[in-house]
Amino acid sequence: MLILGIETACDDSAAAIVQNGHLILSNIVWGQKEVHKRFGGVVPELAARRHTEVITHVIQESLDQAGITFQDIDAIAVNSMRGLIRSIVVGVSSAKAIAYTLNKPLIGVHHIEGHIYSTILQYPDMPFPFVCLTVSGGHNMIILVEDHGKYQVLGQTHDDAAGEAFDKIAKLLSLEYPGGPIIDKIAKQGNPKAFDFPRPMIHRSDYDFSFSGLKTAVMQTVDKSQKQNISIHIPDLLASFQQAVIDVLVSKTVRAANDTGVSAIAVAGGVSANSLLRTTFTQVANTIQKAVFFPDISLCTDNGAMIAALGYYRFRSGFTSQMTLDAQSNKPLESWSVLPS
Ligand code: KG4
Ligand code: ZN
Repeated sequence: MLILGIETACDDSAAAIVQNGHLILSNIVWGQKEVHKRFGGVVPELAARRHTEVITHVIQESLDQAGITFQDIDAIAVNSMRGLIRSIVVGVSSAKAIAYTLNKPLIGVHHIEGHIYSTILQYPDMPFPFVCLTVSGGHNMIILVEDHGKYQVLGQTHDDAAGEAFDKIAKLLSLEYPGGPIIDKIAKQGNPKAFDFPRPMIHRSDYDFSFSGLKTAVMQTVDKSQKQNISIHIPDLLASFQQAVIDVLVSKTVRAANDTGVSAIAVAGGVSANSLLRTTFTQVANTIQKAVFFPDISLCTDNGAMIAALGYYRFRSGFTSQMTLDAQSNKPLESWSVLPS
């Protein structure tokens, strides 16, 4: 079964063809970093306009690379439930136009659920239940994945997501956008113990996060050093910041895995590309004898393949959307746990 997956939540125009939920025939991502980098963050109006300009080319390219035509597709899956509303509208309208014209099934899915499926796509035999940390620029959650389409959100951020903190610190230091990859790189040359930044909410018994206080602590350190004319070793600053974020993410996720008694942890979303996060999770999971799964780096950030894979499982369970499918910017994940068992 061939599913076309379309994803336009934020600043990536993406389309992919995935066969039977796990074989990626194409995965095209047309990023917009060039458009947004001089603003140090995504400008929603510009993102929507760029999606409109490129989405038909991205979809056509996904078909060409897969060596198929529109007629060969069995269904069209699209993120319709989370992201910048005007960006999602572009993906949803495109998916509806294709589904209507070809008379093929349309499957509206949830962006965060898509990130969860970026691991299932790669490891179709992953054991349920598992705990999934989804962490990116726009979301930061710990989710108990009980089965296909059955979720319990255990915790989420009260303010900034971890990726947002990476992006804002990079902007403060006039580094490139998005901040995660460049901070990951520079931090390798720094001492993670040089600055004693807070680990927000690490000792609380819940599974929620808060990264705005940590971001403020880094900003105040920079501000103070500028006022006192003291130079800061940027790699040390970034390594210490990154370490604080990772300590919190790992500690809370591992606690959730222990408390729920699952044997596996998945880590997905843009920040799951972070090299220290990956090594730390692997080491800790090894110590507590739990399996840890990460998507390939190419599947960590937003992409169409994860949407197509999720679409496959939805379709297989008998779910399709109506042609009245609407774009929604923030549909709660749990209200969407609707798969029949
Ligand atoms: O999943 P994604 O493409 O979009 C959202 O749903 O937000 O994630 C993008 C986020 C950005 O905040 C970016 O800085 C972060 O993922 N990111 C990273 C790394 N690569 C991307 N953060 C830390 N380390 C990385 N290597
Ligand atoms: Zn995302």
